[in-house]
Amino acid sequence: MTLHDSFGRQITDLRMSVTDRCNFRCVYCRSADPENYRDHDEILSWLELDRLAKIFLGLGIRKIRVTGGEPLVREGVEEFISRLHALGFPDLSMTTNGHLLAERCDRLLAAGLRRINISLDSLDPAKFERITRTQSFSKVMHGIDAVQNSRLAPAKVNAVLVRGLNDDEVEAFAQFARIRGVIMRFIEFMPLDADRHWSRELVVPAAEVYERIHARWPLVQIPHERSETARKYRFADGAPGEIGLIASVTQPFCGFCSRIRVTADGKLRTCLFSKEDHDLRFLLRDGASDNDLVTYIRSVVNEKEEGHRINEPGFVPPSRTMVFIGG
Ligand code: GTP
Ligand code: 5AD
Ligand code: SF4
Repeated sequence: MTLHDSFGRQITDLRMSVTDRCNFRCVYCRSADPENYRDHDEILSWLELDRLAKIFLGLGIRKIRVTGGEPLVREGVEEFISRLHALGFPDLSMTTNGHLLAERCDRLLAAGLRRINISLDSLDPAKFERITRTQSFSKVMHGIDAVQNSRLAPAKVNAVLVRGLNDDEVEAFAQFARIRGVIMRFIEFMPLDADRHWSRELVVPAAEVYERIHARWPLVQIPHERSETARKYRFADGAPGEIGLIASVTQPFCGFCSRIRVTADGKLRTCLFSKEDHDLRFLLRDGASDNDLVTYIRSVVNEKEEGHRINEPGFVPPSRTMVFIGG
């Protein structure tokens, strides 16, 4: 069985958020003020997540990514990953802020995790602190080291660029990729921040990032799958490391989107920018059969939106911010 939408896109990637909690407060995602986390009973239990994962595997999901909030703050995430591994997902990955990674890396590997993406928005500890509102720079660096010294290497390192904040570090990040052999990805800032500070002027276009790195260290494009978020490049001089450009705003890739999301509170989202989400938790707790769930999921996916509309007049950001969607 496979999942398709009305635009002929096959849905093969699922991002499952296991918690809406996060130990960082990145400026492009969360507010400095305390946010209202969902009550524990509003968050899907591991049993409910297991059940959904199995149903989605049966529907042709091949890539599964565990997200948050910050997934490593929920106890039991390694066991969840080992159950996903046992179910047989061909691609099993996680996106993390890296704070707890150094001490958890071995367990994640043993559980069957295959790939990991880590956020790192500055190479300068003071600026890192301003962006994340934490003092975890060295913990994240140790997390990246632990990954690089393991079978999870190479790490994908994600930097969300915000004009005037960290766009002066493009070359330094590229140098970091060359020295550490990581896949360094530059992400355009999207209107999903809690403070609603996003504006077009704050977006650093991927084309600019390309020009700046290419001028210093010529880049060679490498092939990517159509549904991938990043355009990928290696260094022409053969240096290790890779560059990825995620141009969600200036060059949207919605036409080839193969993704859906389940939020920690059990809502199915067909787009990061969906206006509505769809209540799987209610069905799970109301005695729905697997068949009922399959029918519901198919009908929701059929209505997946064509794209995000950030570049259209009258665009309104979704009410859920990134931390409550799961990246
Ligand atoms: P890979 O499978 O490793 O290529 O991962 P990924 O790029 O899908 O996942 P990751 O969690 O590292 O996401 C990186 C960034 O891509 C996110 O921070 C978003 O900015 C962007 N992104 C991920 N999924 C979507 C999506 O569905 N739509 C849009 N517009 N951007 C997305
Ligand atoms: N725009 C783009 N990416 C974002 N992320 C969080 N908020 C935003 C935003 N407003 C990224 C994080 C991480 C992933 C989970 O989502 O940096 O890489
Ligand atoms: Fe897919 Fe929506 Fe992201 Fe576009 S914005 S790539 S349709 S999830």
